[in-house]
Amino acid sequence: MCGIVGYIGQQQAAPIIINGLKRLEYRGYDSAGVCIVRSPELDIAKKAGRVVDLEANVDISLLTGTTGVGHTRWATHGIPNDVNAHPHTDASGRIALVHNGIIENYLTIKKKLVAAGYGFRSETDSEVLAVFIGMLYDTLGDLESAVRTALSEVEGTFGLVVVSTVEPDMIIAARRGSPLILGIGNDEFLVASDASAVIAHTRQVVYLHENEMAILTRTGFTTKTIANVETHSVIDEITFELDQLEKGGFPHFMLKEIYEQPMTFRDGYRGRLLIDEGNVRLGGLTSVVDKLRSAKRIIFTACGTSWHAGLVGEYLIEHLARIPVEVEYASEFRYRNPIITPDDVVIAISQSGETADTLAAIREARLRGATVLGMVNVVGSTIARETDAGVYLHAGPEIGVASTKAFTSQLCVLTQFALYLGRMRQLGLEEGKNIARALDAIPDQIHAILEKADVIEAIAKEYAGVSNILYLGRGVNFPAALEGALKLKEISYIHAEGYPAAEMKHGPIALIDENMPVVFIATKDESYDKILSNIQEVRARNGKVIAIASEGDDHISALASHVLTIPTTHPLLTPVLASIPLQLLAYYIAVERGCNVDMPRNLAKSVTVE
Ligand code: M6R
Repeated sequence: MCGIVGYIGQQQAAPIIINGLKRLEYRGYDSAGVCIVRSPELDIAKKAGRVVDLEANVDISLLTGTTGVGHTRWATHGIPNDVNAHPHTDASGRIALVHNGIIENYLTIKKKLVAAGYGFRSETDSEVLAVFIGMLYDTLGDLESAVRTALSEVEGTFGLVVVSTVEPDMIIAARRGSPLILGIGNDEFLVASDASAVIAHTRQVVYLHENEMAILTRTGFTTKTIANVETHSVIDEITFELDQLEKGGFPHFMLKEIYEQPMTFRDGYRGRLLIDEGNVRLGGLTSVVDKLRSAKRIIFTACGTSWHAGLVGEYLIEHLARIPVEVEYASEFRYRNPIITPDDVVIAISQSGETADTLAAIREARLRGATVLGMVNVVGSTIARETDAGVYLHAGPEIGVASTKAFTSQLCVLTQFALYLGRMRQLGLEEGKNIARALDAIPDQIHAILEKADVIEAIAKEYAGVSNILYLGRGVNFPAALEGALKLKEISYIHAEGYPAAEMKHGPIALIDENMPVVFIATKDESYDKILSNIQEVRARNGKVIAIASEGDDHISALASHVLTIPTTHPLLTPVLASIPLQLLAYYIAVERGCNVDMPRNLAKSVTVE
């Protein structure tokens, strides 16, 4: 959610922190702030708005010092304004911190601090923590002990970085439930909430573990648990390139990521797909093959777009492998006392690998004895580390808040997983080969759809003024309809709903009139004729129909106001291709409405709070 960058080294900290914050803005962007240690003072600048607003209001070159922290916020406690922006300081102004997460017992701690005579400027839980650490420092006389003692009393989640004038050559970082990584340079160290903020300086990183602290100085770092037990850190290498974090000539990251899909989809099966064997090799699952062979049930747990991918996975696995599948909203899963047995395989699907609800769900599943797997994009993320085994998506960094390429990569991995399970069971060689060949054809087919983007842009202009849009699909295309609706509402703020097409007559049909456009996924499959009837029902009520149809379907153009064609694929892979025009439609409508496509209001890329 919020973004954190800290620096300690030989260079001026402020420009490094500001550039890091710009890379992290996709995590949260309602205010930004920086604190530079200029002993005996802390220089703090913070501002509501984006990092550019901070730069416009503060001469960053005046913030001199080689140690500092910065933060870009996604508000939880208190509105986004200058005062609530991070960093926050203790009462004496000697200690400053930036915080990602939620301190759940902050009111209890605040009450104690108020009784002891402390006052507060902001409405945030984070300031309470800063003041608490300051009070403990006054008693203990040692910053590390003060941070440790405070954190052992805190309930909730934190990714935390502390700087001070009392220990000007030290940064303290700690995590519980909110990711932090250390960037290891030559006589300089960074700490950040994700790798994108450090890659310009170093590719060597250490992923902090749950309940771990790091003490960074100009010459080295140590890690230990919050309970003060030394830990051994492993240095990892960042796997992506700096230019993957640039827009590369596109006006928005979202459009760039939509156009990357021929490549990212291929990266999802490269080295895995065995076309002649009608099978796949999924190296990340080798250790759990026996569990998969004997699995009685698969449970996907995920949120948002990743949950939609799980719904597609349900169709794929039930059809190809005949294993019962359930798809659970991660946020609901653990609160309904789920029935889980050791024969269940629970799979978290997540782009970021940090979604708090999904993480909590897999912890619950593990506690109840399930085998827990991950289908995750971000290498080294918490979900990737906390699962027994898994399959990476290999979609590369996704910066646009609205997920696009990660979704199609999830479908790529899910198709392969279903094929793998199917071939272990009853799926024959020929059907296996059909699926494998269809998968291998997808990148070129996506490319062909992208070449027709101007048609979609023209349609988007026509519909940018509407207030509602309905998305309908059947079978495996129902989740694609849900995803199309989510994309539109996230970035254009138009109300959109997805339904199974046949459900329309059970309620949503009441909404249909000349002002209600309806997007149908109406490709030529077994439910085609039924979908045509649904289209007729909309037309009979003067609704406007935008149809995603199969190439060469001449019949549908007589029924729909607009037809967007996609190439023919295996019916189970249609959601991949149908998603491309739906992503473009949402994108161009949002652009036409003047929305900030990459940073839609109220959203953040990685939702690390429950
Ligand atoms: O990182 P995750 O895949 O776990 O994130 C889950 C959702 O928060 C995410 O898909 C969200 O719905 C996106 N904004 C969708 O575009």
